[in-house]
Amino acid sequence: MNLFRTKSIEQMRETAAHSGMAKTLGAFDLILLGIGCVIGTGIFVLTGVAAAKYAGPAVTISFMISGLACALAGLAYAEFSSIVPTSGSAYTYTYASLGEFIAFIVGWNLILEYTVTASAVASGWSGYVTGLLLSAGIDPGHALTHVPADGGIINIPAIFITLLLSVLLIRGTQESTKLNRILVGVKLTAIAIFLLLAIPHVDTMNWEPFMPFGVSGIFGGAAIVFFAYIGFDAVATSAEECKNPSHDLPIGIIGSLVICTALYVVVAGVLTGIVPYTELNNPEPVAFALRYIGYNLGSAVVGVGAIAGITTVLL
Ligand code: ALA
Repeated sequence: MNLFRTKSIEQMRETAAHSGMAKTLGAFDLILLGIGCVIGTGIFVLTGVAAAKYAGPAVTISFMISGLACALAGLAYAEFSSIVPTSGSAYTYTYASLGEFIAFIVGWNLILEYTVTASAVASGWSGYVTGLLLSAGIDPGHALTHVPADGGIINIPAIFITLLLSVLLIRGTQESTKLNRILVGVKLTAIAIFLLLAIPHVDTMNWEPFMPFGVSGIFGGAAIVFFAYIGFDAVATSAEECKNPSHDLPIGIIGSLVICTALYVVVAGVLTGIVPYTELNNPEPVAFALRYIGYNLGSAVVGVGAIAGITTVLL
């Protein structure tokens, strides 16, 4: 029976209240934290794959469907995090409601999720770095920038960034929080530059046919771009550092989800509006699209912003 023992909410609140963590975060910080954890490989890489292979220009609808699914999970997180504002997130909520054994499974699944996601995001980082090197005339070689499944030997840039950020995180979270803030700013600036340069070049002919792979393609695309939303739950883990968790955590979680969904839909719409969707299956579609319409410098700047953005997700 001990496997299913639970902890009372009062007990958890008590432990959290004496965690010794500085309570410095407000609702705005939490929204920034959410954007930092969420926007990365999904928008900068997967939008292209999802449009080219699954949904076509209707990838915008795929993003809306995934966003809606995430909002349901987000509301549950918001509710739980205001009742049990502790850093254990889903693990603690499960402990309080379903008991220790199920919480153990949820905890390990979270670790698995973070491991697989971080590897995929590091691979997206590598795609943009390699693209930038190639545009500068430096060819790092296919073998050293791709895993065997993609015809290479080892993905050195992906390993490099993972190790570098691990060292930074081992040194302390203070430095990493500061870096995160700066990089979130760079990432949002990169998206803004992309939109400013690209919007005047949108050709509505590129949105036809809008649903080349039908409704099943839209849902297939939604499954792929769901990855773009992973990370919003990380906001809940900062519960013990919040000034007013019951009020600010729901705003942080739902606020960052709403902002990310809006940005995703607009970027996906503009991307498929400037380049035929069939051309988008490449490792750095956003930078590629800007080169496609003739902005080589803009493409490099947005590429650097994408690298910064993807780095915050890894952090
Ligand atoms: N949502 C994260 C990303 O898109 C995992 O990179």
